[in-house]
Amino acid sequence: MTQPKKLYIKTYGCQMNVYDSERMAEALGASGYVPTDAPEDADMILLNTCHIREKAAEKVYSELGRLKGLKAGNPDLKIGVAGCVAQAEGEEILRRQPLVDLVVGPQSYHRLPELEARARSGAKALDTDFPEEDKFDRLGARPKAQRGPTAFLTVQEGCDKFCAFCVVPYTRGAEVSRPAARILDEARALVDRGVAEITLLGQNVNAYHGVGPDGADWGLARLIRELARIEGLERLRYTTSHPNDMEDDLIAAHGDCPELMPYLHLPVQSGSDRILKAMNRKHTAEEYLRLIDRIRAARPDILLSGDLIVGFPGETDADFEDTMSLVRTVGYGQCYSFKYSPRPGTPAAEHDQLPEDVKSERLARLQALLNAQQEAAQQAMVGRTVGVLFEKPGRMPGQLVGKSDHLQAVHVDAPAELVGRIAPVRIVKAAPNSLGGELA
Ligand code: SAH
Ligand code: SF4
Ligand code: F3S
Repeated sequence: MTQPKKLYIKTYGCQMNVYDSERMAEALGASGYVPTDAPEDADMILLNTCHIREKAAEKVYSELGRLKGLKAGNPDLKIGVAGCVAQAEGEEILRRQPLVDLVVGPQSYHRLPELEARARSGAKALDTDFPEEDKFDRLGARPKAQRGPTAFLTVQEGCDKFCAFCVVPYTRGAEVSRPAARILDEARALVDRGVAEITLLGQNVNAYHGVGPDGADWGLARLIRELARIEGLERLRYTTSHPNDMEDDLIAAHGDCPELMPYLHLPVQSGSDRILKAMNRKHTAEEYLRLIDRIRAARPDILLSGDLIVGFPGETDADFEDTMSLVRTVGYGQCYSFKYSPRPGTPAAEHDQLPEDVKSERLARLQALLNAQQEAAQQAMVGRTVGVLFEKPGRMPGQLVGKSDHLQAVHVDAPAELVGRIAPVRIVKAAPNSLGGELA
């Protein structure tokens, strides 16, 4: 018998890349690869990359530089670049970094076995097409290995929104929704393998409109309600959403579907109408706030998360104060914030850029406010009893770590048998990034 080859994948970027890395590992399983955690043992190293900000993209080249030594020690080692940098830069990667053997875009990874064979034969392998065929069809059923209690499941890909700052519409292509029957099958298979919580993924997941098994158009709410009927599937989440795609039935589901967890990531990017317009977000700050009111009316204890950008071209002090004011009004439980990073090929990159020190100063002020809000949200949990899905042992002996309904990490002294199960936990202490509790 031949020795299995070893595959090491390093994942950058969003949750969709995490899901894609799993599927790429499965696809290469067919070529005789087994996963390894040790790059120095690998026969193939794949970097699954992110292009969203300049720093993310540059990381890839510095990581490739670090791999030079490994390749020198093992001439059979193949190095591949996958994901959004692969899609955006394609052949340029092969030119800039000759040690790369294989470049594969996010829509082509079902072709990895052929690409791997080409790379093994000594040729350079490149595929950044947006193919006609559906990669999910080609990938087929997922392997039957036992899994941890949480999983991601991609239901929608791509983006038609073209926010003026963002590369995603170019790296992931147009919005496409998977047929609901396939998603239900994949979810059932995950539950059979021990999964109790599924996070539905899409670059614009709430734009999901797929064909249902009945031939009708299913929106995300319908899909969630059908998934919730699967025996053993206890929790559902979805990410990432665009405010303009929050349909009425999805808001309603937050109120009446108990499996849908009280957590929502709903990026707004800015609190200034002028900047929102320049960003091509197609909604105002007031419309976002009214939407939040409706969501909170459906589910009062929902924990809100978001994304914000500071220093977008043309952002004045007054625009930035509008963002601060919106954040104060919303009260986020958790929120990401970024300095605007000009991305080649996007409209906003053509405009005059703000000085770096202005961006840094605004980001620091915004983050101080967001941190204070997060701490307040964590503190507000103390004394409450919440459901916790236990995922793994904690750092202290006898301790388990899990996630609350609101997606907060919770540490609890609990027996190991509880891994994979949900139990009520009374929260007794709060730190900025985790909670401590006791089995209730
Ligand atoms: N599809 C998701 C966002 C994907 S990118 C959505 O629309 O919500 C994740 C976040 O990165 C964005 O919400 C935005 O806040 C940030 N981002 C995207 N492009 C950026 C850029 N050029 N500079 C800084 N932040 C950016
Ligand atoms: Fe990017 Fe905007 Fe699409 Fe989100 S909605 S992926 S920020 S273009
Ligand atoms: Fe990054 Fe691509 Fe995700 S650019 S954020 S890996 S969709």
